[in-house]
Amino acid sequence: MHTIDDPDDALAVLHDPGFVVPPVPAAAHGVAWLRASVGRFSGGAAYPRRRALSESLLSTVDPAALRAAAASSPYAHPVRLLCAALGLDPSPGTTDAVRVVAAAYQPGTGDEPAADAAVQVLIAACGGTADETTAARIGLLVQACDATAALIARARDAGLDTALRDTPPVAATKRMATRPSDVGAARVAPGEVVRVSLHGIPFGAGPRRCPGRAHALALAEGALSATVGEGVDGGERS
Ligand code: HEM
Repeated sequence: MHTIDDPDDALAVLHDPGFVVPPVPAAAHGVAWLRASVGRFSGGAAYPRRRALSESLLSTVDPAALRAAAASSPYAHPVRLLCAALGLDPSPGTTDAVRVVAAAYQPGTGDEPAADAAVQVLIAACGGTADETTAARIGLLVQACDATAALIARARDAGLDTALRDTPPVAATKRMATRPSDVGAARVAPGEVVRVSLHGIPFGAGPRRCPGRAHALALAEGALSATVGEGVDGGERS
């Protein structure tokens, strides 16, 4: 697969409506249903509607409240704090289910049967109706899961700004060309899928940039504010 490494080329692809998220098949159950129902993997008319659902759910969560929650429980998994803020059961079972789904969310990356079962747990935690709003709620938790935990872990070692600059938690995304396109020196054919590096673009760019940026930073800042200086005072680092 062709990789777009140059940040200017990557930005151009992320802003170019001729590059779309590789489509996923329609599905009625499990993680395939989740992919087919969230904005992240949607195109066409469904995309703005689903993106608006995610943004509207996130608008009910005040980043300052998340920062405070993370500061008082700096080692809590960020998904637990986000569940509580979204009015969902913040039990370990919910967080574990989100982790299992996150490991298989990108097509072809994980244990699909385990993720299918975990999606059922999360639908039940959201009230039992498998509609687009439920998919958006689960999608927020899944998108936040590994990226925010990785950001916090790396920032504990390197500091937040350095972690974001040098080791973005989401290293790359994918796009599919819908027409012949020149990207830098490369020619990309219609139907070809390219890997777009997010180095220097940690939260993405263009219409599909991360809507959870402020929330993720608040969670990280809160967790770090409570643990800063630990390496010196608590002797937890070599
Ligand atoms: C509270 C934490 C977070 C939430 C709720 C969240 C939510 C989301 C959602 C819903 C999307 C899909 C947007 C769409 O397709 O319209 C998304 C995309 C994205 N998120 Fe986040 N996210 C969080 C944390 C993070 C972190 C920590 C990073 C990395 C630094 C990150 C990087 C991205 C990127 C790069 C995309 C765009 C992917 C693409 O263009 O293909 N997110 N996020």
